[in-house]
Amino acid sequence: MLHVRTRSVEATRQVAAALEPLLRPGDVILLSGDLGAGKTAFVQGLAAALGVTEQVTSPTFTLAASYEGRLRLHHLDVYRLDNLAEVLDLDLPELLEDHAAICIEWGEVVVPELPRDFLRIRIQLGHPEDIEDARVFEIEPIGPSWVSRSAELTLVWTQWTANQSGDL
Ligand SMILES: Nc1ncnc2c1ncn2[C@@H]1O[C@H](COP(=O)(O)OP(=O)(O)O)[C@@H](O)[C@H]1O
Ligand SMILES: [Mg+2]
Repeated sequence: MLHVRTRSVEATRQVAAALEPLLRPGDVILLSGDLGAGKTAFVQGLAAALGVTEQVTSPTFTLAASYEGRLRLHHLDVYRLDNLAEVLDLDLPELLEDHAAICIEWGEVVVPELPRDFLRIRIQLGHPEDIEDARVFEIEPIGPSWVSRSAELTLVWTQWTANQSGDL
């Protein structure tokens, strides 16, 4: 389990961008955390690094959006779906076959439908509590494809953290 801290939305976008070179077709990233944690901000940073020029917004009311970049990016937000049937209506299996990168916000409900490999990112708000913009990213590689990239993942964020001035 990796922990990465940010203290601004911009830093969160940079943390996500740092992950981009490691992304392969078919990768799934599951993002969880309270409303306003920074899940969408993370996807925005990732999309920009993938070369997506369109603006990425929260797909809360549309459930899914797709963008073209180095890899196609499918961005899903399934938090309002209360049962698996609705999740399946999103054509998740089709999206998983698309050789795209898939980011799923609030996605714990879809875990049973996911492939065995995915990157789980849990975002915690306000740590330390006295800093409103502080976030902690708890990053856990699941399955052989991501576990085999553990060392690269660690390197990505160790380097990013080392390059930061104190205010991020
Ligand atoms: N360190 C941080 N990382 C990400 N967002 C932050 C951070 N600090 C403050 N924010 C603010 O928190 C909000 C995160 O919103 P969003 O990414 O839409 O969250 P979510 O998708 O998890 O509901 C934005 O208004 C952003 O400006
Ligand atoms: Mg969101």
